[in-house]
Amino acid sequence: MTELVIRPVDAQDPPDVDAFVSVYGAAERAADPEARLATSADATAMLGSQDMSFFLEGYGAFADDRLLAVSMTSGGRRDNLTLAQIQVWVHPDHRRRGVGTTLADAIETLLHRDGRTVLRTQLRAGPGHVGNQRFAESRGYAVVLSVVERRLRLPVDIALLDRLAAEAARRHQGYDVRVVVGPFPADLRASYVALRNMLIAEAPSGGLELEEAGETVENLVAEEARLEAAGRVSVAAFAVHVDQVVAYTEAQLPAGAHHVDQLGTLVHPAHRGRALGTAVKCAQLRAVGEGFPERAYIATANAEVNEHMVAINLALGFEVHQVWMELEKRLEPPGSQIG
Ligand SMILES: CC(C)(COP(=O)(O)OP(=O)(O)OC[C@H]1O[C@@H](n2cnc3c(N)ncnc32)[C@H](O)[C@@H]1OP(=O)(O)O)[C@@H](O)C(=O)NCCC(=O)NCCS
Repeated sequence: MTELVIRPVDAQDPPDVDAFVSVYGAAERAADPEARLATSADATAMLGSQDMSFFLEGYGAFADDRLLAVSMTSGGRRDNLTLAQIQVWVHPDHRRRGVGTTLADAIETLLHRDGRTVLRTQLRAGPGHVGNQRFAESRGYAVVLSVVERRLRLPVDIALLDRLAAEAARRHQGYDVRVVVGPFPADLRASYVALRNMLIAEAPSGGLELEEAGETVENLVAEEARLEAAGRVSVAAFAVHVDQVVAYTEAQLPAGAHHVDQLGTLVHPAHRGRALGTAVKCAQLRAVGEGFPERAYIATANAEVNEHMVAINLALGFEVHQVWMELEKRLEPPGSQIG
């Protein structure tokens, strides 16, 4: 095979970004014709981000200027400095020729040099996806978590939302449940960011002790600018108690798509057991249904051991779309093998 050239994707170069999204999209669609895909606008906004609190990088493996495979890496720059996420997608026409191996070797070497010794990746589980797991396991990755992607048809039945929200409301008097479409209210940003920082440490991690994120209000402002540049709309519902955000759920509506991406949901540990998780999810789904009637479904992914979150989603009617596995590979700290 012609020698592969591996280099970063240039977020400022639209053809480069389009080629990246096209190879990633072909690989995803081959695995699931209904896969939710990031757009070129998403990729430009994320890969071109100047936010120094995290890195998110795209790479391509080229043969004679043809892009055969892509990879995406990400991780924190302020917190969880030994952890990185890595994904590899080889175009379906170029598989079983060592392209994935060459690209993954190069990317893992870069991450290792950066001190990343815990690498995580996500794969689809089930019939038709066994090859991906073989590939990852042959590289030293092992399954640490089962994650289930569920989808819920929109708009959600209003009678169901009314009933669940009314039952929940009886359990959290003194909390004000609100919804925001677009940028988060300025006066509540500090407690919102503090709560969001807890998510990584609070969600099931498959055995990793994770630090809280170190995001600031400035990072939230930068994130909102990235969303706007990508044409994404954020719909968040949150609960306020004594002028502090103590629970939230966040969804994003990608431009030009017919779905909604569910992101994090978190209730502050001191405020759990009051059905605030159900309350914010009901408020958010109601707002999505009312404001965006063209959206056909909302998708969420939860660790299967996350029983409280899964129970709320099941009560709302979410149904399994795809089971995923999270896999992990541990590397020796850089330099530890010398001497
Ligand atoms: C998994 C993936 C990256 C492999 O890319 P690739 O270029 O075909 O991989 P390689 O040719 O380097 O394969 C290396 C080894 O992995 C294993 N492997 C890869 N694909 C396999 C398959 N379909 N069935 C069985 N084993 C497979 C084999 O052991 C293979 O060695 P061999 O061909 O000598 O038997 C590619 O199939 C892909 O893009 N899948 C969709 C996205 C995805 O799930 N990525 C996984 C990590 S994020």
